Amino acid sequence: MESTSIRLGGIDLASTIMNASGPHSAERGEILELSARHGGAILFKSCNLAGLEAPENLKNRGVQHFATLARELTTRGKTVFGSVVGQSAKELVEVAKALDQAGVRALELNLADDFVQNSVAAFASLDRLKSVLEPVRQEVRAALAVKIPPKLSLEPRAVAEIFINLGIAIAVCANDLSKDFSVDLKTATAAGQRRTVSQVHAFFEAGGGKLDLVAVGGINSGRDAYVAHLTGAKAVQVGSALIKEGAGALGRIDRELDNLLTENGKSSVNEIVGTLRFQG
Ligand SMILES: Cc1cc2nc3c(=O)[nH]c(=O)nc-3n(C[C@H](O)[C@H](O)[C@H](O)COP(=O)(O)O)c2cc1C
Repeated sequence: MESTSIRLGGIDLASTIMNASGPHSAERGEILELSARHGGAILFKSCNLAGLEAPENLKNRGVQHFATLARELTTRGKTVFGSVVGQSAKELVEVAKALDQAGVRALELNLADDFVQNSVAAFASLDRLKSVLEPVRQEVRAALAVKIPPKLSLEPRAVAEIFINLGIAIAVCANDLSKDFSVDLKTATAAGQRRTVSQVHAFFEAGGGKLDLVAVGGINSGRDAYVAHLTGAKAVQVGSALIKEGAGALGRIDRELDNLLTENGKSSVNEIVGTLRFQG
């Protein structure tokens, strides 16, 4: 859908919709199905160097499995993103290098998962964050994204500044809008006073236009995607809906977003990113 294409972290994508890391993105068959049915970026499940049997949510076959798939898909012209986990800062660098050499366009460092937080503790302090990210940035050429823990004790502004200074182009943030959050799509106006409505929104404001945001969590429809775009997301990731519906979920959400853009008189999603306003 032309209206839903976007430039994210310097990479042109056919759609702002992509799968979240994990669901439908671990096994070769699942990944090939996603890439056959969706024109946007394909994001792999998080992997470490040797693979993991536990924890259950990070079970993976190891980086070589994903590097092989990345080579196969990139030679077919697909835009592939990798996702990196590890138990040390050094392991993150090694995994990132292997995926980078295999041709992934962007690398998402999954620093949000408890398993990584408990071992690498990248968000323990701003200094620690810098010392984890710097060596990865030095060793890879792919665009870098960081998946932010939903509960962050550091200030978004300070974290965003580190990303911008180090050349981390993308922050993957929680789309943690409150259940009763409502917005009129026609006017992009939310009820109530001006406030920060989600982690995506907090990082959009903190980044001052210099950081691209991806929203993850609760994106099940074109409307969810539209609202996430209003709060500042340039792209959105779909997890649970893929588990429920299979690979067709990405195309459905893309079509729904396209229809909503048309209904609201927009020819491109670029016209709505970060345009949320408030009544008060
Ligand atoms: C079964 C399953 C496996 C997941 N595996 C990963 C993973 O490997 N790496 C990662 O960053 N997130 C992983 N996630 C989290 C998703 O990427 C996403 O952040 C989460 O599902 C919220 O999105 P949703 O509300 O659309 O499901 C996993 C989620 C599920 C349900």
